[in-house]
Amino acid sequence: MTSAPEQRPLAPAAASAATRAADRAGVTVTELAEITTLAAAADLLDDVWGTEGYHAATPELLRGFSHSGNYVAGAYNGAELVGALVGYQGEWHGECVLHSHILGVRSDQRGRGVGAALKLHQRNWALQRGHRMITWTFDPLVRGNAGFNLSRLGAQAVEYLVNFYGRMNDGINNGDESDRLLVAWELDTARVRAVCDDERGDGHGPLPAEVSQCVLGHGDDGGPRLHDVEPGTTAALIDTPPDIVSLRQRDPALAMAWRMALRDAFVSCAARGMRPVRTTTRGEYVLAVDGPGFRVHRTPATE
Ligand SMILES: CC(C)(COP(=O)(O)OP(=O)(O)OC[C@H]1O[C@@H](n2cnc3c(N)ncnc32)[C@H](O)[C@@H]1OP(=O)(O)O)[C@@H](O)C(=O)NCCC(=O)NCCS
Repeated sequence: MTSAPEQRPLAPAAASAATRAADRAGVTVTELAEITTLAAAADLLDDVWGTEGYHAATPELLRGFSHSGNYVAGAYNGAELVGALVGYQGEWHGECVLHSHILGVRSDQRGRGVGAALKLHQRNWALQRGHRMITWTFDPLVRGNAGFNLSRLGAQAVEYLVNFYGRMNDGINNGDESDRLLVAWELDTARVRAVCDDERGDGHGPLPAEVSQCVLGHGDDGGPRLHDVEPGTTAALIDTPPDIVSLRQRDPALAMAWRMALRDAFVSCAARGMRPVRTTTRGEYVLAVDGPGFRVHRTPATE
């Protein structure tokens, strides 16, 4: 049984880190509550995810979330809504957490810190409500998101979820199986405080000396090349395609081969006690025996 998180005093450092991130990105981040702005956020998320004939999140659902004390926020560049982020309060391993459900930034506004500004606003919101942690899932094949979540934000990968939502047919997933990494963002650790204060995150450090092999790399044909984890390996690299979203459109069979190879690579590394801890500047995952456990979940519904 869990108890509701207690209200805590404001976290001034988290609030100022959020403000600085928004200033750097040139946006204002604010909670959304009115149905017209929530409808605009729903449209933006549909646009980002390329949904056709259905909503990634309906305006009514966002209204319900917002009205019942959950997190719905938008980033404005001037008067224009350019990003949205939605989460709801839930539980993970007996702890009350904020689970972040969906994040999207308009394609012409990406790569200049809007996504990070939204996440730092969400972090401050959660800390103010007594949460220590925000959880969310992301597709581990999307290289940019891996860097964003693990290295820019300092979230920790804690579970590998096999085909979590079943097959997804929006413009980003294009029929692929929906394996996801579950990340836990511990909001007030020294590492997270440091990455939140530094606009580069911590993805630019040297490779750990123990990295002894690449478990998944590229073949000459652009396909995945999977290698057995060698005995004694305690740190390794796993590569991904540079742009899986366009590969799914161009060559769905090759994209599926990457999905299966990446699943096998993470499963074999997890069996050796390794988990993804960050990404390299080239975009590979760095896996190491480190911190909390990393588990693979297969549910009957996903097999
Ligand atoms: C993911 C998304 C929200 C990021 O928004 P954004 O405004 O571009 O985010 P930011 O500018 O703050 O930073 C993200 C970018 O910086 C990179 N990045 C920033 N700091 C980094 C670091 N220290 N190490 C590695 N990468 C870093 C990320 O790789 C990403 O770049 P890329 O995707 O262009 O390769 C946006 O790309 C998007 O809407 N994507 C489609 C929807 C989606 O995938 N949502 C799920 C997110 S988990």
